[in-house]
Amino acid sequence: MGGLSEKTLNYQHLSEIYDAIMGDPEGVKLYVAMLQNVLVGSKILDLACGTGDLTLKLSQLGFDMTGLDLSEPMLEIAKGKDEEKIISFICGNMLTFELNEVFDSIVCANDSVNYCSSLDQLTKLFKGVNRHLPMGGVFVFDYHQKARLEEFGDPFDEEGRVGDIGYHWHIESDPPVLRHIITLYSNGYPIIETHEQFVFDLMDIQELLREQGFECEVTDPADVENLYLDEKWIIKAQKERDV
Ligand SMILES: C[S@@+](CC[C@H](N)C(=O)[O-])C[C@H]1O[C@@H](n2cnc3c(N)ncnc32)[C@H](O)[C@@H]1O
Repeated sequence: MGGLSEKTLNYQHLSEIYDAIMGDPEGVKLYVAMLQNVLVGSKILDLACGTGDLTLKLSQLGFDMTGLDLSEPMLEIAKGKDEEKIISFICGNMLTFELNEVFDSIVCANDSVNYCSSLDQLTKLFKGVNRHLPMGGVFVFDYHQKARLEEFGDPFDEEGRVGDIGYHWHIESDPPVLRHIITLYSNGYPIIETHEQFVFDLMDIQELLREQGFECEVTDPADVENLYLDEKWIIKAQKERDV
């Protein structure tokens, strides 16, 4: 059988050009500065850590870091950056993870929470986070604002090349889904990865967090000087009870 492309696991191939396209050292610095104002303690779990730039930066600042991600290829790149081998990188699903340890704070950065495709999945995530935090521990994440869906009402297309790999990145809005269709061209057939990010109501998310034992505080980056996170909410959820 053959077709123009085969369905691949997300980030299986995108990982090869992810840092070249998405890497943003200045953005990581600003994100870390924001985190330093809200994290508690020193033992931190970076959920959906990807290629690990944020994990590594926090580790260099003295935090005791664990990074968890679903994608082996993304984790391999992250591990390669951790020259001192002091970060624990784990392949796992943030919806079902069970690490049998507790962290002072948990982070999930750069719209990774938007990969939760239903309120049930968000509930699973928040339950897992609750289980891995002590009382008073915090969970910090960013989340696309609804404006993102309007912004991509007019689809966005970008083409480029990273080394031998050509890419076409298409983003379209299909509420509540923000769909990224990424076509990669190297040798042979094009490879297509379709990433769907879901944008649910902020009020629903706040309510779920409260149900799952958190008190939450929401910041609009538009109100914070120098924060680069366009059109995302920054949500700090502090654990106030077990569930
Ligand atoms: C946009 S990238 C962000 C990576 C990293 N947090 C950063 O700031 O660069 C999203 C990441 O979420 C991961 N991911 C998506 N769904 C996941 C899940 N259910 N469990 C763990 N990781 C997941 C992907 O593998 C990918 O590495």
